[in-house]
Amino acid sequence: MTGQRRVALVTGAAGGIGSATVAKLVGQGYGVVGFDLREAPTSDDVAHVVGDVRDRDLLRRAVDTALDRWGRLDAAVAAAAVIAGGHPLWEAPDGELPELLDVDVRGVWNTAAVAVPAMLDGPDPSGCRFVAVASAAGTHGLFNLAAYTTAKHAVVGLVKGLAADLVGTGATAVAVSPGSTRTGMLEATADLYHLPGPEDFASSQLLRRLLEPDEVAATIAFCCSVEGAVLNGGVVQADGGFRP
Ligand SMILES: NC(=O)c1ccc[n+]([C@@H]2O[C@H](COP(=O)([O-])OP(=O)(O)OC[C@H]3O[C@@H](n4cnc5c(N)ncnc54)[C@H](O)[C@@H]3O)[C@@H](O)[C@H]2O)c1
Repeated sequence: MTGQRRVALVTGAAGGIGSATVAKLVGQGYGVVGFDLREAPTSDDVAHVVGDVRDRDLLRRAVDTALDRWGRLDAAVAAAAVIAGGHPLWEAPDGELPELLDVDVRGVWNTAAVAVPAMLDGPDPSGCRFVAVASAAGTHGLFNLAAYTTAKHAVVGLVKGLAADLVGTGATAVAVSPGSTRTGMLEATADLYHLPGPEDFASSQLLRRLLEPDEVAATIAFCCSVEGAVLNGGVVQADGGFRP
């Protein structure tokens, strides 16, 4: 089936911010293909492909699912990631940096590599948006998270390079950098810091509370919109005023 309906791919779709993004985009009328290591609910508006963002062929299958079902791809949100750390750089195990670069950076790279050609071949390249979920760690150096900080800075670089490559197409790329958002990853981060829970992170945001996944999803959905073109090549700090 083809039509005017906007269609999005969302990686990390079973996670906190990813699943909220799927729900937000569906609420705005999108058809959405989710992609995640884990299963996630489907419906008339949502398809889901289980796979690893390190596997470009599986990601391509997710893009093909969007094209088969709705005939177009207008937005791709790369939200899948993992976190590791809890020690200074010089105490990190050998495998930590390679794993984070592989999942958190190459996963975003792979997502762009399969999504952008489908966007440019589609009916409205100038309405197409690539959105990478980076982090406050894409701008700031976060204590005992050197590998994650390295990977998220690379995600910001990836977006800037992609935006430069998209010049003349009308398609755009942007990074969204959430602050501390109430998800499984934030629980895992609290564990890395040996904190009793994630609420302690609220003190590093001027809002003095954690963000909810739905709030970050609203920002991501704006970035996915046609109007989101104005943010091209930039980093949207969706962090409630992060002060490390
Ligand atoms: N929660 C926060 O406070 C916060 C802050 C800044 C940035 N972020 C970023 O937001 C994004 C979403 O994170 P979240 O907080 O929703 O975490 P989350 O752990 O709830 O969700 C991440 C999802 O990614 C999936 N995933 C992990 N590795 C994968 C792989 N190799 N292939 C496919 N899927 C994979 C997981 O299964 C999970 O469903 C991430 O990029 C994260 O770095 C989160």
